[in-house]
Amino acid sequence: LEGSITREGRQVTGYLLFSLSTAVIGSLQFGYNTGVINAPEQKLRNFFNNTWMERYGEPISLGVQTIVWSVAVAIFSVGGMVGSFSVGVMANRFGRRRSMFLVNILAVIGGLLMGFSTICSSYEMVIAGRLVIGLFCGLFTGLTPMYVGEVSPTPLRGAFGTLHQLGVVVGILIAQIFGLEVLLGSDELWPLLLALTVAPAVLQCLLLPFCPESPRFLLINLNQEEQARKALVRLRGSDDVSKDMQEMKEESAKMAMEKKVTIPELFRTAAYRQPLLIAVMLQLSQQLSGINAVFYYSTGIFDSAGVKKPIYATIGAGIVNTIFTVVSLFLVEKAGRRTLHLLGLGGMAVCALVMTVSLLLKKFTSMSYVAIMAVMGFVAMFELGPGPIPWFIVAELFSQGPRPAAMAVAGCSNWTANFLVGMSFPKLVELCGPWVFIIFSIFLVLFFIFTFFKVPETKGKTFDEIARSFGGAPPTSSSIEAPPTSPSAAATLPASPVKEK
Ligand code: GLC
Repeated sequence: LEGSITREGRQVTGYLLFSLSTAVIGSLQFGYNTGVINAPEQKLRNFFNNTWMERYGEPISLGVQTIVWSVAVAIFSVGGMVGSFSVGVMANRFGRRRSMFLVNILAVIGGLLMGFSTICSSYEMVIAGRLVIGLFCGLFTGLTPMYVGEVSPTPLRGAFGTLHQLGVVVGILIAQIFGLEVLLGSDELWPLLLALTVAPAVLQCLLLPFCPESPRFLLINLNQEEQARKALVRLRGSDDVSKDMQEMKEESAKMAMEKKVTIPELFRTAAYRQPLLIAVMLQLSQQLSGINAVFYYSTGIFDSAGVKKPIYATIGAGIVNTIFTVVSLFLVEKAGRRTLHLLGLGGMAVCALVMTVSLLLKKFTSMSYVAIMAVMGFVAMFELGPGPIPWFIVAELFSQGPRPAAMAVAGCSNWTANFLVGMSFPKLVELCGPWVFIIFSIFLVLFFIFTFFKVPETKGKTFDEIARSFGGAPPTSSSIEAPPTSPSAAATLPASPVKEK
C-alpha cells in the first residue's frame, strides 16, 4: 500500500488524497460557473441583440435585454436550489460515488447548450444551459462535502472539509482569469468560456471509477461490511481499521431504525431540530454576509470607489480569496470551527464599516485605496470561517441517517439566500447608495451573536459524539462548551434521537 503518514492517529495516504481531489472537481465546477458570467456581460448582451435582429429585424430594447440578461444570471441559482434539494434522494439511492458520476451528465448537457448557442442563434440555449448547470452545481454543493466528510479521518475532517471551499475559490479565480478579454472573454470565444465546464466533468468521470464508495455508506446504508473494510484499508493505508469500523458499527446500531431520514422526518424529529437550526443559520450567515455582492458586483463597487482598473482589483480579490482559504485549511483543526467562524464574521463586520466610510468619503482620492483594502479584508475574513465552515459542518452535525436530508435543506437555504442577495443587491444600491454595506454589517453582528451562543465546537469529535451532544433535549450550556476531547459531558444525554409522536 501507498506510504502513509500516521501522526497522532492521522492517516493520510496518496489514495485518500486522490479520492478527495477527484471529489473536489465538483467544487471547482461550482466556483467556475459562479464566477464565469461576470466578465462577458457585454458580449452576451450583444449576442442577445444580434439574435433579436436576425429574428425580428429590429434591435432588442434595453429593458428586454436586461431582463434576458438577469434571467440568464439568476436562473443558475434557481437550478442550484432545486439541485441541492434533490441531493438527499440521490445520495441514498445511488450512493455517493455513483451520484457524482451521474450528475456530470448535467454538466455536459449544460455546457453544450451554452457552447452551441451562437451557432444556433438561440439565447434560449444560454438560459437553458445556465439552468442545467445550476442544477448540476446545486447537487455538487451537497455531494462533495458529504463524500469528503465521510471518507476523511476524524482529526482531519475540518481541514479536508475546507478543500471543498478551496475548490470553489480556485474555480472562481480560474473563471476570472479565463474571462479576460485577451483570453476567452472575447466576442468570438465567450461560448467556449461557458462550455469549458464540460472538460472537468469528463475528467471526473474518468477518475471516479478508481475512487472508493464511502465506507460509511457501504456499511451503514448497505450493510456491506467486507466492502466497507476493503475501502477503509485502502483509504487509511493500514490493515488495522478496526477503530474506524467499530465507530461506524456503533453508529449503525443506533441508527438501525433510521438509515434513511426524509426531509419531513428531519423537521418532525425533536433531536434534529437544534443541529438543523444551526446548519441553516450558518448557511445564511455565509450568504447574508454579502460576500456575493462582492463577487458578483466587485467591478462596479471598485469603479464607484474611484479605482482606475477595477478588473484587476477584482482578480486581486480572487487571489486574496484563495490565499485565505489555504490559511483556514491549516488553522481549522487547531483553532476550531467556532472560533474561526466568529473571527471571520466579526472581521467582516468591521471591514464592511470601513468600506462604507470609504464610499462616503470618496471625494478624497486616497479613499480608493482604503476601499480596495476593505474589500480585500472582507474577503480574507470570509475565507477564514464563513466561507468554508458552513459547507462542511452540516456533514459533521448529523450522523449517517439524517445527513443527506440535512445537506439538502442546508444547501437549499444557502442557494436561496444567494439568489436573494444577487437579485436584490443592485436595487439596494439604488436605494441606499454608499450605505448599502451597513445592511450586511447588521446581519454579520446578528450572526456573530447567534454563533457565540448556539454553535458548538465539533473539532476532533466523531459523528456519533456530535450527534449525542444534541441528544433530544435542548443543549445545556455545558454541552455547548464541552471540550472536544471529553465526550463524558455529552454522554449523559440520551444516546439516540427521540422521535416525537
Ligand atoms: C462560498 C459561497 C459562494 C461564494 C464563495 C466565494 O462557497 O457558497 O456563494 O461565491 O464562497 O468564495
